[in-house]
Amino acid sequence: MLDLHSISMRRGMLYETIITTVNSDKTPNAAPIGVICKDKDEIVVYLHEGSRTIKNIKNNGTFVVNILKDPLVFVESTMGNLSLEYFLEFNDNYAIQEADAYFLAKVNDLKDIERKDQFGIDKSSIIRADVEEIVKNKDCVEPLNRAMYGVVEALVYLTRKDMVSGETEKLYNLRMKEISRIVNKVGAKEHKEAIKKVMTAWNEGK
Ligand SMILES: Cc1cc2nc3c(=O)[nH]c(=O)nc-3n(C[C@H](O)[C@H](O)[C@H](O)COP(=O)(O)O)c2cc1C
Repeated sequence: MLDLHSISMRRGMLYETIITTVNSDKTPNAAPIGVICKDKDEIVVYLHEGSRTIKNIKNNGTFVVNILKDPLVFVESTMGNLSLEYFLEFNDNYAIQEADAYFLAKVNDLKDIERKDQFGIDKSSIIRADVEEIVKNKDCVEPLNRAMYGVVEALVYLTRKDMVSGETEKLYNLRMKEISRIVNKVGAKEHKEAIKKVMTAWNEGK
């Protein structure tokens, strides 16, 4: 039996995926959504109010998580919707044909919450879901996680530290803080340790 570990999803980490759902007129919908691996067969997603994805999940109680790294699929599903030829039918839902892996998720708990964040009052739903059936299209599946990219970006800025001053330095300071925030949110222990070292070096002598 396949579980989330067999598609390299590690407990506590947040992966950028494409979630596919079924609209009320039975057409498919796709949107990029962060998925947290809670356990080998359970995930958690935080969905902001107002998206089709949350509406469909509330209506249907199931959805499909697609693991892939095609940049155009991310762009098209964010800016509009993917054209129909991308989808295939899967367990009364839709999946993305070219995905490295995909799985059916069945909601086991849904809470609507309101909280204050950096953008104001955020209304969202926290959804816990059981992983029901995993399809693996590749031997080695590597789900997308932003932490490593963040560490690399921060390192590039660090190597330019002595070359910048004034407004550029201020801009770099803001970017470093934001990168550090993201790495700490989505990364594993080693990413957090790495970004801590980079931030210490960045702040040295200030
Ligand atoms: C990489 C990435 C990750 C995202 N993660 C989330 C998320 O975890 N929760 C959420 O509500 N929106 C998230 N979004 C925003 C939604 O994808 C976006 O609002 C989308 O337009 C919703 O589409 P829909 O109305 O078809 O559901 C993310 C966007 C990107 C690009």
